[in-house]
Amino acid sequence: MNLPNMKNAKLRGLKTVEYKKQENLFSSNYVGKKYFIRTYGCQMNVHDSEEICSMVENLGFQKTECLEEADLVLLNTCAIRENAHDKVFGYLGRVKHLKKEKPELMIAIGGCMPQQESVIHNILEKHPYVDIVFGTHNIHELSKLILNHQKKQEIEVYSVEGNVYENVLYKRDSSITAWVNIMYGCDKFCTYCIVPYTRGKQRSRKMEDILKEVQELKDLGYQEITLLGQNVNAYGKDLEENIDFATLLEKVANIKISRVRFVTSHPWDFTDRMIEIIAKYDNVMPYIHLPLQSGSSKILKLMGRRYTKEEYLTLFHKMKERIPKVAITTDIIVGFPFETEQDFLETLEVVNTCKYDGAYTFIYSPREGTPASKMKDEVSNSVKEDRLHLLNRLINQYSFENNQKYLNKVVPVLIQGVSEKDQNKVYGYTDTMKLVNVIADQDVIGKIISVKITDAKSFSLDGEMVVTNQK
Ligand code: SAH
Ligand code: SF4
Ligand code: F3S
Repeated sequence: MNLPNMKNAKLRGLKTVEYKKQENLFSSNYVGKKYFIRTYGCQMNVHDSEEICSMVENLGFQKTECLEEADLVLLNTCAIRENAHDKVFGYLGRVKHLKKEKPELMIAIGGCMPQQESVIHNILEKHPYVDIVFGTHNIHELSKLILNHQKKQEIEVYSVEGNVYENVLYKRDSSITAWVNIMYGCDKFCTYCIVPYTRGKQRSRKMEDILKEVQELKDLGYQEITLLGQNVNAYGKDLEENIDFATLLEKVANIKISRVRFVTSHPWDFTDRMIEIIAKYDNVMPYIHLPLQSGSSKILKLMGRRYTKEEYLTLFHKMKERIPKVAITTDIIVGFPFETEQDFLETLEVVNTCKYDGAYTFIYSPREGTPASKMKDEVSNSVKEDRLHLLNRLINQYSFENNQKYLNKVVPVLIQGVSEKDQNKVYGYTDTMKLVNVIADQDVIGKIISVKITDAKSFSLDGEMVVTNQK
């Protein structure tokens, strides 16, 4: 048994990152058995689940979308806010009932939640029926944990700086778009955020390994890749070679996969060269997610974000000027400790200036062990809710206005599948990351087609296919 320790998780030593070759286990022990997986949280987790699925399928399991059918239930969890946490424990209640009827059912919990001591204590005390608990640093051990599992609850969570594993196999959700990790962990320690504790220190993958993966995806026929990291602009800062995100992005663009995206950008590390490369290459998509968090420099300082409102706005305007038709979205937190009405109005002011294409908005949620959780939280719940409501109204208004500009225009859309709401339509994304539902035959799935926009709502566009301009 290995238990997490938040103090250890915070240590950032001089230990050099080890680049290890992952050993993949194959077995037929579970042929005929089914697994069910539920993924919470960010794109990192979505991509980690692709690794988990590959691993359990290599043990013989087959995927099911029906919880009741499963012999193995996997929950890949997120710890970013309290409600993420509550959702998992709520769901666990359902799984517990299932296990009563089916005692041989195996339950495994992984991801960011188990990296927290309090979660482990909760599992130990209240959820003894959970079979396997693993963390973000030992996903690669999951096959072994399953194969070796006896009756006893097994908790294997490490609070370490972390390593980089290559040779990882993924069962990718799509054959059109793919995630590519470029780095793991985060060293920013924004005062409200749990991620640097749950994911370890920033570790960049070597450029040659990333380029090899992108080339392989291109050869397999993938149309789009998204470079993934909590802080993609900080890529390379921890490497010995003098490589930064701009250099990596340019090399990736030159592989000539149709579309290259990246997420998430931190304003602090965004250099002019990065902007230049995004503008220069047609296959680097004109879409940037640039979290603001707050429009008040006082709150940004308390958050440890390392930029002021003015610096953020300068960067924002530079992007808008230099990258033709760029769409920019953001993340905003309301109700951070000491956020006054004036601070909140400053956030609204920035939103009014930036007129974002979209935003994820959150009420601040204190996370145990983070510096902000020790700050006096003076904002009442009802004020926080009112602020969120006001903010969302403004955000939706600008999403709507930005989308309206697309009306009657013809735009390139990468078609990804059949629309959920209407089986006669397909859906895809513009280069600027707008969701479009299109009247077209299903044989355009996987292709970039020209679409004339016929209707624009706050969260999606409707359109008709004009001509196919790609294979
Ligand atoms: N690495 C990314 C963010 C990852 S977390 C970045 O720095 O931009 C995604 C978003 O969750 C953050 O941008 C932030 O807006 C929000 N978030 C993180 N911790 C939070 C907390 N304790 N309470 C509320 N929102 C939080
Ligand atoms: Fe969290 Fe800040 Fe790191 Fe983003 S940059 S993951 S908000 S600590
Ligand atoms: Fe959640 Fe962990 Fe991602 S806390 S947002 S799953 S890095």
